[in-house]
Amino acid sequence: MPRAVRFRRYGGPEVLEVVDVERPSPAESEVLVEVVAAALNPGEIGIREGVFDKLWPARFPEGQGNDFAGVVAGLGPGVSGFTVGDEVLGFAPRAAQAELVIAGADALVAKPAGLDWEQAACVAGVGATAWATVEAVEPRPGETVVVSAAAGGVGIIAAQLARLRGARVIGTAGEGNFALLRTLGIEPVRYGPGLGERITALAPDGVDAYLDNFGDHDVEVALALGVRPHRINTIADGDAVRDHGVRNRAQEDAASPSLWGRLADLAALGQLTIPIAASYELARVQQAYRDVASRHGSGKRVLRIRP
Ligand SMILES: NC(=O)c1ccc[n+]([C@@H]2O[C@H](COP(=O)([O-])OP(=O)(O)OC[C@H]3O[C@@H](n4cnc5c(N)ncnc54)[C@H](OP(=O)(O)O)[C@@H]3O)[C@@H](O)[C@H]2O)c1
Repeated sequence: MPRAVRFRRYGGPEVLEVVDVERPSPAESEVLVEVVAAALNPGEIGIREGVFDKLWPARFPEGQGNDFAGVVAGLGPGVSGFTVGDEVLGFAPRAAQAELVIAGADALVAKPAGLDWEQAACVAGVGATAWATVEAVEPRPGETVVVSAAAGGVGIIAAQLARLRGARVIGTAGEGNFALLRTLGIEPVRYGPGLGERITALAPDGVDAYLDNFGDHDVEVALALGVRPHRINTIADGDAVRDHGVRNRAQEDAASPSLWGRLADLAALGQLTIPIAASYELARVQQAYRDVASRHGSGKRVLRIRP
């Protein structure tokens, strides 16, 4: 029987189990995929802890994980465009951390041969999110954009996408990530108290756009720097959206397989780097989420489900 991550009650990482499940069978317009790698995202911690119970209640036993990459293993009736054996990446809400997953045929795209599995697994999650945030503030050539948590899963992709649009990018990070950011052409600055002054020292002519990926008063810093609300996007500070009218474009605004394909192609061509901070076997899912919960690291943590 295939194995999958499940939890039967809300709680800490200890409620996560790897259990045998029935082999899933694809229905009309669905595809069965043998998962090779599945991403781990901090938002999944909130779902598992019950923080989002009102918004997105769990149906126990609940699965976990959304974005993944794998190999097509079966086709439901009416599916065209995929055949068994195709390498794909996609999105399967609360189900992706499993040896076999069912995804809608409209939630999959071909994986470029040159892209490795771990990176491919992150494209429909943080890749799409990063794309949406950058598009929200429309950086133009020569402008200066600040990206917070710039070594995190979303931030490191958003910072590179803003650079690909021709902007100068300043990224907030801990000092351990400064060298990584510099290799990607991102100018690092330490987050925390005094951030606004440090940004002004780097960009005395001002900042044009600001992408908040952490919520540590970043929107307040951006407003104090004179960035206009429609050129600020946050994915981590709902109060700032309500209070200041800043944007909050996120993953659901870029949930498009054709867009995932474009991002995957950029990554396969080496124009976009998706650093993998750590890769874990499925059986180590509890430890993997403990590490994600640290909220420090360089890029993405992923589950490697199959060699
Ligand atoms: N709504 C959506 O569609 C959506 C989608 C994806 C993510 N999100 C949300 O977006 C946020 C970012 O997600 P993610 O996957 O990029 O997170 P992540 O990978 O866990 O972010 C980790 C990064 O945060 C940095 N960090 C730690 N403390 C910080 C601080 N005080 N200020 C600024 N940066 C700090 C760390 O930097 P150092 O390691 O350098 O210390 C680390 O690189 C999360 O809140 C997540 O839930 C929303």
